[in-house]
Amino acid sequence: MSAQGREPGHNPFKSLKLSIFSDKFSDIFMTSFKATLMMIFIITSIIIVFYSFFGSETRWRFGYQDSPVNANLTRPFCVEPTRPEISTNTSHIVFGIGGSAKTWSRRQKYSQLWWRVNSTRGFVWLDEQPDRDTEWPENSPPYKVSSDWTHFKFSSSQSAVRIARIVSDSFRVGLPNVRWFVMGDDDTVFFLDNLVAVLKKYDHEKLFYVGGNSESVEQDVLHSYDMAFGGGGFALSYPLAEKLSKAMDGCLDRYSNYYGSDQRIWACVSEFGVPLTREPGFHQNDVRGDVYGLLAAHPVAPLVTLHHLDYLSPLFPNQTQDESLNTLMEAYNLDPSRTLQQSVCYYKNWGGIWSISISWGYTIQIYNSYLLPPDLEIPLQTFKTWRSWADGPFTFNTRPVSSDRCENPITYFFDWGQEVSKTETLTSYKKYVVDSSKECKAKVDYRRTVEKIQVFAPKMDPQEFAKVPRRQLCEIENFKYGKMKVKIRSSVP
Ligand SMILES: *[C@@H]1O[C@H](CO)[C@@H](O)[C@H](O)[C@H]1NC(C)=O
Ligand SMILES: *[C@@H]1O[C@H](CO)[C@@H](O)[C@H](O)[C@H]1NC(C)=O
Ligand SMILES: *[C@@H]1O[C@H](CO)[C@@H](O)[C@H](O)[C@H]1NC(C)=O
Ligand SMILES: *[C@@H]1O[C@H](CO)[C@@H](O)[C@H](O)[C@H]1NC(C)=O
Repeated sequence: MSAQGREPGHNPFKSLKLSIFSDKFSDIFMTSFKATLMMIFIITSIIIVFYSFFGSETRWRFGYQDSPVNANLTRPFCVEPTRPEISTNTSHIVFGIGGSAKTWSRRQKYSQLWWRVNSTRGFVWLDEQPDRDTEWPENSPPYKVSSDWTHFKFSSSQSAVRIARIVSDSFRVGLPNVRWFVMGDDDTVFFLDNLVAVLKKYDHEKLFYVGGNSESVEQDVLHSYDMAFGGGGFALSYPLAEKLSKAMDGCLDRYSNYYGSDQRIWACVSEFGVPLTREPGFHQNDVRGDVYGLLAAHPVAPLVTLHHLDYLSPLFPNQTQDESLNTLMEAYNLDPSRTLQQSVCYYKNWGGIWSISISWGYTIQIYNSYLLPPDLEIPLQTFKTWRSWADGPFTFNTRPVSSDRCENPITYFFDWGQEVSKTETLTSYKKYVVDSSKECKAKVDYRRTVEKIQVFAPKMDPQEFAKVPRRQLCEIENFKYGKMKVKIRSSVP
């Protein structure tokens, strides 16, 4: 080992210097080098002192706080000056519902499910003055007649022009303290508390376009994946609505060949470069048949809207669609955030293992087999596509309903519910009795002995999903005398 190479404090520059310069020469060189450095230092200092006294502040920023290099790096860099933050509530929303004078009497039942008289704000926009002889229903949103919409070009539907202009009409009403403009059809059912919980997540002072697209791929292909479908409802932040109100009439001319009002609004929004913020709780419900499978395996997000209820089988068997909606609202009012939230648990018994999927406030399924959570999270395909009534594709995976009756779940539906305390609810689900020709007969099916299922659950924090979306947990407490007791808890401590 060479001692020279490993000498402590070995200075490579020293040996370099020795090899190039003689000692004497190097001394002279070093002295003048030091002197030069000193001069540069003094001159620089004088300049700095001069400028910090006399120079304009904007040109020289040597202050500690203004220098990006010296900035306190533990402080988040992009935090804006704090403004007094009042969190968004229903009073900050203005609804713009597309209606028509002739059909309102039939469609009013939908808005009456969620409209809160003297609390929610907004209007139903009509094509013409409604019949003066009949009084406007007290529990409907107040109406306004759309402003001049007949002189715009259109290719397929003139009412699409009118409904697209609801954005600018609503903005021009000029109501105070508005943060969001929420558009919907006359058959859109809003779940108000959940809508507020979702909008709270977004800064209403920025440009936001929040909604969802179609469940049927054919619809998204035909219109746009990036568009908020109008029937499912969508929200525009105030500054975006302001921009649209100015641009809309120009957009209506540019996009006159488009089909719907929602597509015209999307096109206009995209001119400002604002993308769709997708929220899975907005349901356009572009499906045919029974939407059951979808609602029994809802995404981990609050239920915000339901649409197309006139076209779908009743949500609850043995009930009309209107009765079904009242039943769902009864559960919803107990615990809005938890509505339709899925949880999965298993019950081991001497006959085998049952897989149980709960959609809170709506339905429970018991399977005679061991189905893993990723399977249970996939909606049973109880429906067809919207346009072609085909078996797909949809924008999510589906499981086929089996032709073997024993593989299909026994289903239970929400029957009644109550508050157990201020923070806990009890909901009860009753077995749906199919006619015996549809029952599983191949083997002894002990599932049939479960008549009722009772679910105890804590009320859900409306902001839980904003913090972290996660499927809720459940466990079987006991099963006695035809009654099964289940406990649900939040997965977030
Ligand atoms: C940096 O910011 C943190 C948090 O605001 C503060 O506690 C700390 O005192 C700051 N440090 C300096 C050197 O300013
Ligand atoms: C909603 O926010 C407004 C402030 O913009 C406030 O005056 C009002 O009391 C709030 N309403 C509720 C129900 O919290
Ligand atoms: C709504 O407000 C009006 C006017 O203040 C009042 O006459 C009416 O009774 C209120 N309705 C409800 C349901 O509170
Ligand atoms: C539905 O109605 C049928 C016949 O009226 C009845 O046998 C069945 O128990 C009912 N189902 C439920 C879930 O109420």
